Amino acid sequence: MYPIYLDFNATTPCLPEVIDAMVGVWRNHWGNASSSHLMGLKAKACLEEARMRVSSLMNASSDELIFTSGGTESNNTVLFNLLGLSASMGRHLIVSEIEHPSVLNAAIRLMEQGVSVDFARVNSAGVVTCEEIQRLLRPNTALVSVMLANNETGIMQPVSEIARLVKPRGILVHTDAAQALGKIPINVRELQVDYLTLAGHKLYAPKGIGALFVAKDAPFTPFLLGGGQEKGRRAGTEAVALAAGLGRACELLSKDIDREMKRQEALKERLWQGLQQIWPHLRRHGQGQATLPNTLSVSFVGVNATGLLARCEKEFCVSTGAACHDRSVRISHVLAAMGVGQEVAQGTVRFSLGRTTTEDQIDAVLAILGQQLKEVSN
Ligand SMILES: Cc1ncc(COP(=O)(O)O)c(C=O)c1O
Repeated sequence: MYPIYLDFNATTPCLPEVIDAMVGVWRNHWGNASSSHLMGLKAKACLEEARMRVSSLMNASSDELIFTSGGTESNNTVLFNLLGLSASMGRHLIVSEIEHPSVLNAAIRLMEQGVSVDFARVNSAGVVTCEEIQRLLRPNTALVSVMLANNETGIMQPVSEIARLVKPRGILVHTDAAQALGKIPINVRELQVDYLTLAGHKLYAPKGIGALFVAKDAPFTPFLLGGGQEKGRRAGTEAVALAAGLGRACELLSKDIDREMKRQEALKERLWQGLQQIWPHLRRHGQGQATLPNTLSVSFVGVNATGLLARCEKEFCVSTGAACHDRSVRISHVLAAMGVGQEVAQGTVRFSLGRTTTEDQIDAVLAILGQQLKEVSN
């Protein structure tokens, strides 16, 4: 059935069981989780069950998990938390230059408020190295924020190594795992991070819900102020149905994460092999690096990817690595950070596979692309 969806890093559909879980709450447990009467207690029980399911997926304990509206809010919360730290913690922040805009723009706002910020560079393989973090460390560094896997390239970042480097100095570590959670096994104890971001709609739960892991001993200042929900850590009436959906998604994903990783990795390799046959000047971003099992970012060097994909838009959905604005082309900040030139960036397409992707779909996309590439190159 067209269009074939290969853009799961942009968003995922809700699993049917997730929809059922949400409908159950909307119909039967719609009370305010802060009310002390029976309807409130039932809603609260759903919320706490969801919290337990989400925290289990990353080996956290329930009281270390705060529900938020999504990845953006979780990232903003961690960065602005810096302003609430005691003066003795310092006011220097390191974020990598390939972070999602919800980290980068929050860092820029903090700079305007007097926090000193350094943007860690990636090497040409798209990796933030420990050496780079070491180079930027200062006596007053308070927080290092590096994503676990990049949304555009899927390239994994050495977060646990970075944590091992900086934590002995009393520096806090945040990782944005919005793209990684549910795709690869994650254990916050092994990662040794203080804060971890997740976004529901990247893991088959709905949009508008996310969570933030805050380690027990990590300092925390609420970002949203108001009522005392989430033990005073995030004000606002809890979205119980959405949280229940997220909880159900985490529970389901935890059951077959290894099998699904292998399956998607095999499909990704099939796609990569096939693409090499239909376009000889193909370049793979993150070649030789550990990447998310579902993400393949390639450049059809010499081709304008936006034009190519416009020819296939009825058949399949993927993303490009450069966007046209009026007559100029803006290369994604991630590819630019990796030193990818304009021609290669312009030919870049991100394929991101998911749990419903099949071999037949991969073969169909290859056939359509092969035909269109023949036409554009003639
Ligand atoms: C790595 C990363 N972080 C954060 C976000 C933002 O999450 P949300 O859409 O839930 O605000 C995204 C979404 O694209 C993402 O890919």
